[in-house]
Amino acid sequence: KKCPVNNTEMARNYEDDRQTKSHETVYTTSNGCPVPHPYATQRAGVNGPLLLQDFHLIDLLSHFDRERIPERVVHAKGSAAHGVWEATEGLEDLCMADMFKKGTKCPLTIRFSTVGGESGSPDLQRDPRGFAIKFKTQEGNWDFVGNNTPVFFLRDPAKFPHFIHTQKRHPATHLSGGDDSTMFWDYLSQNPEAIHQVMILMGDRGIPQGWRFMHGYYGHTLKIVKKNGEWVYAQFHIISNQGTKTFTQEEASALSPDYGQKDLFEAIERGDYPSWTMKVQTMTATEAEELWEKQRINVFDLTHVWPQKQFPLRSVGTLTLNENPKNYFAEVEQSAFNPAHMIPGVEPSADPVLQSRLFSYPDAHRHRIGANYQQLPVNAPICPFRMANFQRDGQMAFFNQGSRPAYLSSIEPIQFKDRAYDLNKVHGKFVGEAVSFLSEIRPEDFNAPRKLWRDVFSTESKKRFIETVSGHMKNCKDQEILKRQIAIFREVSPDIAEGLEKKLGFKGYSGIKGMNFNGTHNGMSEKKIPANGM
Ligand code: HEM
Repeated sequence: KKCPVNNTEMARNYEDDRQTKSHETVYTTSNGCPVPHPYATQRAGVNGPLLLQDFHLIDLLSHFDRERIPERVVHAKGSAAHGVWEATEGLEDLCMADMFKKGTKCPLTIRFSTVGGESGSPDLQRDPRGFAIKFKTQEGNWDFVGNNTPVFFLRDPAKFPHFIHTQKRHPATHLSGGDDSTMFWDYLSQNPEAIHQVMILMGDRGIPQGWRFMHGYYGHTLKIVKKNGEWVYAQFHIISNQGTKTFTQEEASALSPDYGQKDLFEAIERGDYPSWTMKVQTMTATEAEELWEKQRINVFDLTHVWPQKQFPLRSVGTLTLNENPKNYFAEVEQSAFNPAHMIPGVEPSADPVLQSRLFSYPDAHRHRIGANYQQLPVNAPICPFRMANFQRDGQMAFFNQGSRPAYLSSIEPIQFKDRAYDLNKVHGKFVGEAVSFLSEIRPEDFNAPRKLWRDVFSTESKKRFIETVSGHMKNCKDQEILKRQIAIFREVSPDIAEGLEKKLGFKGYSGIKGMNFNGTHNGMSEKKIPANGM
């Protein structure tokens, strides 16, 4: 029996809709009835009230009233484009995913974003950048939902809503961080594990020049798996072939609030297609255990990176953006990227932040777009076989799978495709103390930021950093918060604390030893608190 619609037909109709030109169309109401003119409103007499029978006007106004969907709760401001993936080098020896077979190509969409700002906010704000990629592979969609920094502010997902709320408007004043940075520093001064990301954010890398001149990072450790179930940990990097470029605070403030959108769109229109190289670091489970034992780096801790000398980068393939959206709402606002969208050969690690994200994104999508958001063309997979499942009905069910039984039927059975490997083999083993030390602050938390400050930042960058941080801190209304934050900077390097003290005109605390961060275990304290107790 033939299904009324399949993925290919859907894609064809969608393409037809995208490409339609105005002169080929006829003006109608939403039920397809031609209307001679959009302004021909029906009213009683020459100057009387309007008529309820004027469906054309009601149709127009009521649809207008419903034009907005909720903006993304984070990453609301963004730009996207379509393009192509090519596995120029491949990764077949380590991963069975079809898209990693050397030479394989597939369509992709990338959406770039800032994190904290609202949909209408400037895209040159000092903020991490989202870097979300949807690879439409022959085995389903793989959504790579990363950022432009390899680390993040937290390693405990329960902190995420708290942290994000400090970037949003104040509940009473409705002011955002530009006018009042108290909440921002209050959070950071109580959660020192954020310091590595704060150093990157407040340093010269904090404002990339639009979207084309930045790298993307998966951030979390993933597992990549071979057909026989053998796996290694993987850390993916998306390296800009344009190189990286950044703006200073002054440059960014003087530019258009839609700089990134304009720059990307215009580059693609003139055929200057931006591209990135996917690279990967890999590590065995034993190496991960050793890394924890010897260097105190836990691969499930998103505030740390994998050392590149020990785990070198290997090139896998190229991502090129060569097509602009024809319709921003349909192709960007309605796009939905979800870390839980994985493909055979790519599996999650036990990183608690990743584990929580696997839940949070599709939950947000069902709220933001609706239960059938996967059927929207920008999100729909393009597998070569006809998809079937038992998800039926709900609002806007365009692809409702015809007359096929909506249960697992013995009369009209569907077909199943085996997963090559045994999930027990891939997920049977957990490494490290991933849960017990989630919130504990340890001396190692300051190693990477210290290295950044001492080995990477130039004298000029250091000056700018002190300017940026002290400038931002001047909008914080509570000196106690800043004293704590200065103590955290002192753990990174005393000269940062001293520089800030000079600018601000008061002294911060001498260090974080003995401090208690909202009940967080402080491994820096003399009295060692057991990792599993408060
Ligand atoms: C967007 C939750 C951490 C990258 C979102 C959205 C939610 C969310 C609800 C909006 C989704 C939508 O409406 O489409 C969380 C939670 C986190 C977390 C609960 C931690 C517990 C992260 C991290 C990264 C990241 C660590 C990067 C490594 C992104 C990106 C987007 C996004 C790129 C925008 C996707 C797009 O362009 O549509 N996040 N997030 N998030 N998040 Fe996260």
